[in-house]
Amino acid sequence: MERLPGFRDFFPEPLPKGEMWSADVREYIFDRWQTTARNYAFQVYDGPPLELLELYTAKSGEEIVGQLYNFTDKGDRGVSMRPEMTPTVARMIAARERHYKKPIKWYSIPQLFRYERQQKGRLREHFQFNADIFGENHPAVDAELIAMLTDILRSFELSADDFVVRISSRNAWQEFFRSQGGDEADAYEFYQAVDKIERTATEDSAKKFDSLGFTLEKVRNFIDSSEPTEELQEVLDNLKARGLGDFVKIDYNVIRGLAYYTGVVYEAFDRHGKFRAIAGGGRYDQLVNLVSGGKNDMPAAGFAMGDVVLVELLKERGLLPEYNPSLDVYVMVEDEALRESTLELVQQIRDFGLHAEYPLAATKPDKQFKRALELGARFTVRLTDEGTALLKNLESREETALEANTVAERLI
Ligand code: HAM
Repeated sequence: MERLPGFRDFFPEPLPKGEMWSADVREYIFDRWQTTARNYAFQVYDGPPLELLELYTAKSGEEIVGQLYNFTDKGDRGVSMRPEMTPTVARMIAARERHYKKPIKWYSIPQLFRYERQQKGRLREHFQFNADIFGENHPAVDAELIAMLTDILRSFELSADDFVVRISSRNAWQEFFRSQGGDEADAYEFYQAVDKIERTATEDSAKKFDSLGFTLEKVRNFIDSSEPTEELQEVLDNLKARGLGDFVKIDYNVIRGLAYYTGVVYEAFDRHGKFRAIAGGGRYDQLVNLVSGGKNDMPAAGFAMGDVVLVELLKERGLLPEYNPSLDVYVMVEDEALRESTLELVQQIRDFGLHAEYPLAATKPDKQFKRALELGARFTVRLTDEGTALLKNLESREETALEANTVAERLI
């Protein structure tokens, strides 16, 4: 039986031939995400992987709705696997924000599902680090999020030569759209065309903008101006004050494909433009209102970073940590008559919070020793009788006799 296309198995290291997704690497990525989020004083939250279909149909925009894994459940409800986290967190905030002091800073690492055309950097399932701030609409919030996005990538040893955060503004685009006499009803279609401009043939883009009453030339001129608006200048100044100015640039090619963005938007890319976007986000001040049916209003901004492009990039740069197995101690059973006392010893060692392994079934001593080496054990230990043990340091190969019930203390 094969796995579904676009879905992944995560194997423990060392990886079997032909497999590329490591469960150990995934742990490493999650660990860095969490560490930086806590440094920035974000609190963790989570939501359900299955939501009512309508949470997405009205709020996310056509592109994502076309990619939904949706079905009718046995209770006749239209439901969908979550393709993104933002509608869920907006729903949770709309219902419970009164319980929390503002600004609310939350992060989460959901697995998401999108029925996309499978290609490099895009699968049908991925893990995504999400960070969002609610209850404050100052550009300092956008800057705080962009700083955290930057620091996450720096925590993987990526530098300003490796990536850049391209910052833009829906407000700036909206002004341009209005100044050119754009029809409000076409605004989202226009934003979609801008979002795809770098991935679309010039001819096709020109036709699209023509049909909306614009010329590609005027759109391109606006992009090339790169003139920061007042709010974008504030974001830039804030990031410069942190010493992060080299990691960002104004780039109006970015507008974001999702429908709900309202202000500052941004995407992180590798410097050579070889990979798809590493992360993306922005301000979405009306989503909480929409999700709550007008009952609640709350400024919001956030971003998300997927694990797929990130791992591809780190792999290319040789920045993934080498896998080194490690174990505190391998407890050998040389004499099966001592197995019960050995189990007691294993238990004592594990109670001390140490990592211990032992043979589950009768095994030849040389095989046990080989296993200890494969597992990267620092020590082996074996009982010689019920009360005495021999502890061997596998680096110096020195062996010490000691009382069995002092082994755990000696290993700390
Ligand atoms: P997004 O741009 O759709 O934004 O996704 C964010 C990141 O998730 C992308 O830059 C990419 O790294 C990763 N990603 C998206 N789709 C896939 C896929 N099919 N396969 C692999 N990786 C993927 C959002 O999802 C917004 N909800 C982000 C946000 C949070 N905005 C405000 N708060």
